[in-house]
Amino acid sequence: MRIGVIGAGKIGGNAARLLADAGHEVLLSFSRDPSRLADRATAIGPRARTGTAAEAAAFGDVVILSVPWSAIPAALEEAGPLDGKILIDTTNHFGDLEGLTTAQHNQQRVPGARLRGCWVRGGCCG
Ligand SMILES: NC(=O)c1ccc[n+]([C@@H]2O[C@H](COP(=O)([O-])OP(=O)(O)OC[C@H]3O[C@@H](n4cnc5c(N)ncnc54)[C@H](OP(=O)(O)O)[C@@H]3O)[C@@H](O)[C@H]2O)c1
Repeated sequence: MRIGVIGAGKIGGNAARLLADAGHEVLLSFSRDPSRLADRATAIGPRARTGTAAEAAAFGDVVILSVPWSAIPAALEEAGPLDGKILIDTTNHFGDLEGLTTAQHNQQRVPGARLRGCWVRGGCCG
């Protein structure tokens, strides 16, 4: 399967590594320093490549969104349309979202995507 990763930090980067180890193709995107993305892709190996958030969105049968809460608007703007994509959303929000869960709130930002919230037991940051 092809998986686009928007935000390849502790969560997104480690998910990409585990998915590549399992045989999937991953495209890492959305960094303040593209050289960091390239280093991460090199460390993951030949199943990993880098690109823009829009390329990750187009590439992925599944797309992972794993950026800080404050960076979500920019990430989604750069990603462009996610209609019909399965979007795995790892993001957390710790404040009040007017009674909505994080996933409910973010689904409203990408109404065409099939959003799935992700909760990592114990974290996968190691
Ligand atoms: N679902 C869960 O169980 C769980 C567990 C832990 C965390 N989370 C959430 O998952 C998300 C990612 O967490 P993380 O620990 O992987 O974070 P992280 O290590 O800081 O990774 C964030 C990624 O976003 C990129 N990024 C692009 N623009 C950015 C900007 N303006 N500011 C900051 N980062 C930017 C960073 O790239 P560069 O650093 O290369 O710029 C980095 O690759 C967060 O929303 C966090 O709250 C969820």
